[in-house]
Amino acid sequence: MKAPVDIVVTGAAGQISYSLLFRLAAGELLGADQPIVLRLLEITPALPALRGVVMELNDCAYPLLHKIVVTDQPRIAFAGVDYAFLVGAKPRNQGMLRSDLLQQNAEIFAVQGKALNEVANRNVKVLVTGNPANTNALIAIKNAPDLAPDCFAAMTMLDHTRAVSLLAGKCGVSTTDIKNVTVWGNHSCTQYPDLHHARVKGAEALSLVENDWFVNEFIPTVQYRGAEIIKARGQSSAASAANAAIAHMRTIVHGTADGDWVSMAVASDGSYGIAEGLVFSFPVTVAAGRINIVKGLDINDFSLQRLRNNETELQEEREAIRYLL
Ligand code: NAD
Ligand code: LMR
Repeated sequence: MKAPVDIVVTGAAGQISYSLLFRLAAGELLGADQPIVLRLLEITPALPALRGVVMELNDCAYPLLHKIVVTDQPRIAFAGVDYAFLVGAKPRNQGMLRSDLLQQNAEIFAVQGKALNEVANRNVKVLVTGNPANTNALIAIKNAPDLAPDCFAAMTMLDHTRAVSLLAGKCGVSTTDIKNVTVWGNHSCTQYPDLHHARVKGAEALSLVENDWFVNEFIPTVQYRGAEIIKARGQSSAASAANAAIAHMRTIVHGTADGDWVSMAVASDGSYGIAEGLVFSFPVTVAAGRINIVKGLDINDFSLQRLRNNETELQEEREAIRYLL
């Protein structure tokens, strides 16, 4: 039997975690022969509820679930972890923007960045899901100076899978027929889901759909999907967010498929003129655990304007929490 791998999930009593934990314990991230230790972090008042979740995890008798650690101490939660799902943060309610959460949630990622810096595995892979995810990831990066910035990413995989699903539905094909969709920028309603390089069964996506559908239906549907779900459910997306978190980490573990890419928000290296260091969603490939921004794509004026709008928004968010960097 292999040695167990340590995975931490923060906000472990919350609604996303209620989907995520059971899938991790079933082996969906690392496979059917890899035991795991689940390290679960919560705030103190949520520990009783978390104990109920732990009872349920135990009741499943998962063969791969070697051990569960429950704590309200980040340094205990993050000790020696290889994979970190930073989910724990307030969600927005109807009528709010994700950026309205910035002041409430920012401090969490400063504290957790410091703790990861002190005790996590030096090759830890961190996924920030808590909103506003891009700027929270930036805060974590800046508070973890001994970890490489490329250990961190913020989650735009849910926007990516939303875009893939919408295009597949429009074209009447399977989602597996869709390649090279990109979500650029911020996980906010400014995000830019882009079909200029996307392919449907090998054909250019924009030759198959009307421009009016792309501009006036596809883009806003992806941008506002989170808000629509809150309106319908009274709570933000949870199972689909957990699915995206697993898809993101699985991509880190297994790499991207040949000829395809996914969207991840990572520290900009200046690609496409985006200010260095901003956590910005790019098209990326992954090989041997390394995330590589896809370079050299043609960006027309329509797209460039949208990339710039995202850059400006992220710079404004960064200014609002500069005291934590
Ligand atoms: P939730 O309120 O159901 O759960 C959040 C949990 O985090 C709670 O149990 C809370 O006690 C815990 N928590 C709060 N502060 C913490 C801290 N300092 N340390 C550890 N745990 C802490 O919320 P949810 O629906 O699970 O959503 C969590 C976050 O994910 C929200 O910010 C939400 O907006 C965001 N989200 C992001 C995406 C995305 O695509 N990036 C998708 C869905 C939701
Ligand atoms: C989403 O995109 O579903 C999440 O970011 C939750 C939200 O607040 O919209």
